[in-house]
Amino acid sequence: METPGQYKLVGKFRRKIFTRHGEFLASGRGFSQALCHIMNKVLIIGAGGVGSVVAHKCAMVPEVFGEITLASRTLSKCEAIAKEVKNRTGRVIATAKVDADDAAETAALIRKTGAKLLINVALPYQDLHLMDACLLAGCDYMDTANYEPLDVAKFEYSWQWAYQEKFKNAGLSALLGSGFDPGVTNVYTAWALKHQFDEIHTLDIIDVNGGNHGKAFATNFNPEINIREVTAECRHFEDGKFVETPPMSKHQEFTCPDGVGTYEIYRMYHEELESLVKHIPTIKRAQFWMSFSPNYLKHLEVLQNVGMTRIDPVVYQGVEIVPLQFLKAVLPNPGDLGQSTKGRTCIGNVITGIKGGKSKAIYIYNICDHEVCFQEVGSQAISYTTGVPAMIGAKQILAGDWRKPGVWNIEQHDPDAFMADLNAHGLPWQFIELSPEQAALFQVA
Ligand SMILES: NC(=O)c1ccc[n+]([C@@H]2O[C@H](COP(=O)([O-])OP(=O)(O)OC[C@H]3O[C@@H](n4cnc5c(N)ncnc54)[C@H](OP(=O)(O)O)[C@@H]3O)[C@@H](O)[C@H]2O)c1
Repeated sequence: METPGQYKLVGKFRRKIFTRHGEFLASGRGFSQALCHIMNKVLIIGAGGVGSVVAHKCAMVPEVFGEITLASRTLSKCEAIAKEVKNRTGRVIATAKVDADDAAETAALIRKTGAKLLINVALPYQDLHLMDACLLAGCDYMDTANYEPLDVAKFEYSWQWAYQEKFKNAGLSALLGSGFDPGVTNVYTAWALKHQFDEIHTLDIIDVNGGNHGKAFATNFNPEINIREVTAECRHFEDGKFVETPPMSKHQEFTCPDGVGTYEIYRMYHEELESLVKHIPTIKRAQFWMSFSPNYLKHLEVLQNVGMTRIDPVVYQGVEIVPLQFLKAVLPNPGDLGQSTKGRTCIGNVITGIKGGKSKAIYIYNICDHEVCFQEVGSQAISYTTGVPAMIGAKQILAGDWRKPGVWNIEQHDPDAFMADLNAHGLPWQFIELSPEQAALFQVA
């Protein structure tokens, strides 16, 4: 496979591109696209629900994304996605098999593809291995979820923040958490701080999935990661420290705008709280809420009670198995839920603070329709709302605006171009000013 060094720019204005073997590639109008094709090669790792959306959305923006390679543990999944991408967009993407836990193997694939950016939409367990691979091969890195060790259900940024100097010294950029939450919710907060507030004081992130997949029990994204997340102790930030409470112990009703409906939302820990309170130190309280149906909670309780959510190995017929990993194998694949899922998601932030010395509160949100997503890319809205911001984050890096050596959470970059791209690429946002009474309704301490 050829790398940028294997091309020659020819002509008075260097506007004709030839390969080093003398094969003519492009000139004139096709020049910019051909240049981007050569320069902006990306390697997507993970052929799950989110990986499929990222592959589709990158393919739909040929003026930014050059050669695209989709690699995962199971080659047939990459090939099936590549076929769908070809059918829907007309673009051919390359596929490869890789074990993302093997940094040397991934580094070799980065070199072979000539990728400038690695988009990690495998699982959080792979984050550090993939960051190592990028350092070995000299490639920028981005992901949508922070690192989690396989044997402890604990997620925090410390492990990835520890790579700051390594990326800086290598002149490479790493972008952490470019999904919806984390991702868009962080950018919403950065945008609010830039345009709506002098100081932010409270932040409530509210993630409602008003959709129904028609199954008895299924998770919207990787079941193992989803169940580890919702069964973890709840932590929210208050008066300068994180406070722990039992999982799902705090909940309240929330009515979404635009007729999405009224749902019970549960307070839980979510990773963006950690980076947002660090980077916006005026925040006094930060909470994360997610909606769950009574049916989901009923099944989850039974699964927990019978030990099926355990992440420690048990011996079954002489073989060690991890109950949660076995459960994942028998649950519906989130990537296949698109066909049957109906309804809308509504994810947004209630933010309070001061502007010009006066108190102010806003709600900024996106509403996304599962069936519309399925029509566009063959996926449900959870994969879509994660995959689109991953493409947009990648676009900012390739455009150079967010290419800054080091390891960065998404709220540390300027939000404006990303916010404009959300409107342009399928996740339009709106914001409303809230009265003090309305704002108080959203904020349960
Ligand atoms: N920020 C957000 O808003 C948000 C929301 C939802 C999900 N996420 C994150 O998005 C990521 C993907 O979620 P998903 O629902 O698409 O999960 P998924 O459907 O389970 O897909 C994960 C993919 O990663 C591949 N993979 C796992 N281990 C691998 C390894 N060692 N080497 C190579 N490939 C490996 C899997 O391999 P196979 O090829 O064998 O299938 C699978 O294709 C997760 O990290 C999740 O936490 C973020």
